[in-house]
Amino acid sequence: MTAAPQPVADRIGSTWQEMADLHDPDLPGWSRVAFTEPDTAGRHWIADRMRTAGMDARIDAVGNVIGVLPGTAPSAPAIVTGSHTDTVPGGGRFDGVVGVLGAIEMVEAFREAGVRLRHELRVVDFANEEGNPQGVMLVGSRAISGHLTPQHLAATDAEGTSLADVIARAGLRPEEIDTCRWDAGEVAAFVELHIEQGPVLEQQGASLGIVTRIAGIENFVVDVLGRRDHAGTTPMNARNDALCAAAGTILAVERLAASGADSVGTVGSLTTSPEATNVVSEMARVTGEFRSPHAERLAELRDRLAAATAEQDAAWGTESTVRWGQVDDPTPMDDVVSEHLLDAARDVGHEAVRIYSGAGHDTVQMAHLCPTGMIFVPSAGGRSHCPEEWTDLSAVVDGAGVLAQAILRLDERL
Ligand code: GLV
Ligand code: MN
Ligand code: MN
Repeated sequence: MTAAPQPVADRIGSTWQEMADLHDPDLPGWSRVAFTEPDTAGRHWIADRMRTAGMDARIDAVGNVIGVLPGTAPSAPAIVTGSHTDTVPGGGRFDGVVGVLGAIEMVEAFREAGVRLRHELRVVDFANEEGNPQGVMLVGSRAISGHLTPQHLAATDAEGTSLADVIARAGLRPEEIDTCRWDAGEVAAFVELHIEQGPVLEQQGASLGIVTRIAGIENFVVDVLGRRDHAGTTPMNARNDALCAAAGTILAVERLAASGADSVGTVGSLTTSPEATNVVSEMARVTGEFRSPHAERLAELRDRLAAATAEQDAAWGTESTVRWGQVDDPTPMDDVVSEHLLDAARDVGHEAVRIYSGAGHDTVQMAHLCPTGMIFVPSAGGRSHCPEEWTDLSAVVDGAGVLAQAILRLDERL
């Protein structure tokens, strides 16, 4: 097996620093929230980096940055890699960025070493992987796989702003979403390099992980309707307090998810109306998610959440409506691609371990189009989605080296 050229650590280190500098000064951490100015600036910067590395680069209607390196066999389907550069509010410098910059570095190293691939190579910086107040994750990869629906685009945040509006305000074209779609026949395989975002690799003393399966994720919005009343004159036993019912629902989410070892559940936001201490709450909105590797467990949690909100309504005299937004099934990685990833790691001197991903990834959407696999590098202390997120540069370089070796393997064997 041909050995892939080594990624250049100094170059990854300096591009990573430049990317980190393109963050939102008004938010904590290293934020590039999707469709804001820093995110758009970051995407244009990535397109320029792709061009410098020798790729043709374009930005599609939803904001995906797509770099293309033609192959020597023009009829062969493309091999694709990439990740995302948007962040959660107050996020870190590695989630997503490692997979995009690692891929661009790989292309630079191929060019310097005169490596030509048989297959076309595409490197993608997917738009809005992290989701939004409208409750839709993986927006760019959903558009590429043909799974971004009119319902997703019409979803609104608590103020009534739709996802389509947010995309249009960033100067993109939500009405042309169909032009983002790729056919399954154009792609042979997809590989994503990413940080683990959890503690498993570090605890096991492993330098690399090859993902077995990605969690299924189900997002919900619970709207609770109570009755607005005077906080001083309405007796405690005569209230329909929407916020009290919402509090019961929030605790039920925690209890339900913790009732089995194979699920997690989180309520990430709560809004109430009218938000005044001298008024009993009329309305509360709870948004959250359940995750599990097992579809049956997610189905059970859906039923049990419906029962829990009905219990709260009975206790408080409120009316709760549960809406399920984005529903992504648990996604197994392809066995053949994963074996190539394990072999690629061995080729460059690493014994990688198999690992489950509790985090969602663009790979879930790419799995609708082609066989997929993921390479994880360790996260210090398992921290992620916070400013403290950290992965040593040497681990990023190792990951990019395995990615390069894997792409050469897939190019030879597919
Ligand atoms: C993405 O990072 C997610 O898992 O929420
Ligand atoms: Mn990510
Ligand atoms: Mn993330």
